[in-house]
Amino acid sequence: MTEETHELVELIEHEQGIVTLRINRPEALNALNANVLEAIHDKAAEIATRKDLSVVIVTGSGRAFVAGADIKAMLEMTSDEAEQFAQLGHRAMNAIAALPVPVIAAINGFALGGGLELALSCDLLYASTKARVGLPEVGLGLIPGFGGTQRLGRLIGYHAARELVFTGGMIKADEALRLGLVLKTFEPEALEEGVMTIAKQIAARGPGAVRCAKRVMEQGRPLNISQALELETRSFQELFDSEEPFEGMRAHLDKRAPEFRK
Ligand code: HXC
Repeated sequence: MTEETHELVELIEHEQGIVTLRINRPEALNALNANVLEAIHDKAAEIATRKDLSVVIVTGSGRAFVAGADIKAMLEMTSDEAEQFAQLGHRAMNAIAALPVPVIAAINGFALGGGLELALSCDLLYASTKARVGLPEVGLGLIPGFGGTQRLGRLIGYHAARELVFTGGMIKADEALRLGLVLKTFEPEALEEGVMTIAKQIAARGPGAVRCAKRVMEQGRPLNISQALELETRSFQELFDSEEPFEGMRAHLDKRAPEFRK
């Protein structure tokens, strides 16, 4: 299979509106060149407007999640091209982060540099016990340029983030778990099913409520606490303009499963 003849990012459909977005350039450990970044952006944009979408899972094919931005491509770049490349990376990562439903990173192997930055643009990170993660950029004379200098500290705190960025070290899955960088680890053969169980649990909940919760938690982050609580109240109220909370609460009182509509 050559790069021209296979899809660099595959969309895989599952039941309940769950979609896997699989980075598919295994011969280069899924390294992110401009074509892969464009494909990530385009696939995310393609599914973003789907009403039936409930959860997106991002993973890699073969033995890596993503081993980083493509070093061979970056070696050829001028500073203008480097700027464009970083911006393209941000567009791709932002398209993932902006998906209206929860996005899960299933880290099946190496998630390094731009690969970890892709995972950091997801909402929930889970890893195989054989995964290795890190931001090795400074060892290449670079800095993390697809969001790592900003998103890692926001997730695990700046103290631990500085250590990972300054040392450029690669850590094992259990250390990533200890740092709160991933929520849970699974044996390699159990990762797919473990992540799917979590995705299905989310997909069974009120779809409007889950989307609303993601939006409110994200939009509230830059606000002060009183503005953020006001946003929460407004959003809570808006849910009552739809059928969904009435079905959810009625079903609970009737001791039956809710039948939510997408
Ligand atoms: C280009 C890559 C690559 C990368 C792996 N490959 N990572 N190509 N860019 N980031 C290619 C290898 O060149 C090789 O191709 C093939 O994938 C298999 O990799 P090996 O090195 O042979 O595998 P292994 O010995 O198992 O080592 C795995 C590894 C190593 C430890 C993950 O590949 C590695 O260190 N990769 C680079 C990791 C890294 O530094 N990432 C950060 C990049 S900077 P051939 O053709 O030889 O078979 C970055 C910046 C982001 O991400 C921000 C930009 C703005």
